[in-house]
Amino acid sequence: MRLGINIDHVATIRNARGSIHPDPLRAAKIAEKAGADGITAHLREDRRHISDQDIKALKDNITVPLNLEMAATEEMLDIALDARPERVCIVPEKRLEVTTEGGLELSNISDNKKLIIYDIINQCFKSNIDVSLFIDPDIKQIEAAINLGVKIIELHTGEYCNSHDKQKELNRIQYATMFAVKNNIEVHAGHGLDFDNVIEIAKIREIKELNIGHFLIGESIFMGLESVIKKMRNIIDTYR
Ligand code: PXP
Repeated sequence: MRLGINIDHVATIRNARGSIHPDPLRAAKIAEKAGADGITAHLREDRRHISDQDIKALKDNITVPLNLEMAATEEMLDIALDARPERVCIVPEKRLEVTTEGGLELSNISDNKKLIIYDIINQCFKSNIDVSLFIDPDIKQIEAAINLGVKIIELHTGEYCNSHDKQKELNRIQYATMFAVKNNIEVHAGHGLDFDNVIEIAKIREIKELNIGHFLIGESIFMGLESVIKKMRNIIDTYR
């Protein structure tokens, strides 16, 4: 199971003072050293954490693949085509949300919106950039993703992490994963994962990659970033 480290919240702390410390690139280099298989960064429309310059610095200086999370907009497509990350993960974005609250709505949208996403996917493909779509573990969304031509989806694990009925949410994730894999779609997962709730997700062998950020960056205050990533790596490998 690959582990992608989301470093957005290093930038959140930096931006709280409008200065240059702590540097997300330094965090990414430590993550690489600790065994991260990829670095994930979300360039938001409002630039509340990661900046355009961060994306460029990451792309130029890390050795593991860069996974650029972005909304399906023309502005972000231009940035992606310019920065050439190894992968783009298209996520929904609402200006007032605290975090990415749910997956993309792909099923119940206008043909025009579908066309916009389809065009972004194909322009990325032409530039040799892989594309994943961040969706809820819902068969309708997976079917819509398949119809859009992607080969990778990332399942939103937020409901599972927050729910009191974890088994029910876990069943949904398992069912969605099996459905996607049967349709030759590679499955990734992420959002809200920590040392405890990652265990049941790590056991789903068909999920190939996890992207984890907020918990790891928060916990690194107490444990140090390298130790926290190594511990997460170890938990995943142990329960796999
Ligand atoms: N994957 C995607 C697509 C995300 O948008 C996020 C949050 O930015 C994550 C993974 C990581 O979530 P968390 O920061 O809660 O670990």
